[in-house]
Amino acid sequence: MSEITGPRQVVIITCRNKNKKIDNSITVAWHTQLSFKPFLYGIAIGKTRYSCGIIKASKCFCVNFISAKLKQLAIDIGTISGRSINKDKILAKHNVKKIECKYIDCFRLDKAIAWLECEVIKQIDAGDHILFIGKVVHMQQSQASKAKRLMHITGDLFKEC
Ligand SMILES: Cc1cc2nc3c(=O)[nH]c(=O)nc-3n(C[C@H](O)[C@H](O)[C@H](O)COP(=O)(O)O)c2cc1C
Repeated sequence: MSEITGPRQVVIITCRNKNKKIDNSITVAWHTQLSFKPFLYGIAIGKTRYSCGIIKASKCFCVNFISAKLKQLAIDIGTISGRSINKDKILAKHNVKKIECKYIDCFRLDKAIAWLECEVIKQIDAGDHILFIGKVVHMQQSQASKAKRLMHITGDLFKEC
């Protein structure tokens, strides 16, 4: 199916478990802008993902748009759960640093070429995923925002665009 609906741009969602003081990241290809006014952004997160419970509780997340250069980071973040590893270690391995978000209690990635700070206004049960609808409270892009993006085709197939 993803060969028909894709390729899709790969982003990294960052989120924070405030009680346990744990930061987590998840690679996501199912995401889209949903509205201009208000500016709404949707992400589909599998119910089994560690990030799903975190975002349900924290009611916020940050969408990190990345360049194709971060392909291996996206794969590493997207193939292991934060339940079994602190993903800060993966970020450190790729020399990516965390920066506090401006308007939500969360962090973003310093190498993101653009990012959206989102407050969850609605969560919709969508089969095996939850569609989190976020109100974008802050949007910013870096000078590198015209860099090539990483697109997911299917399985371990990617292309740059
Ligand atoms: C290219 C790529 C795209 C992915 N897209 C999604 C997605 O849209 N939604 C989702 O829930 N998981 C997606 N995943 C899987 C999660 O990133 C993966 O299960 C991750 O380990 C979950 O981490 P967590 O348990 O710490 O939340 C994707 C993985 C990759 C590699």
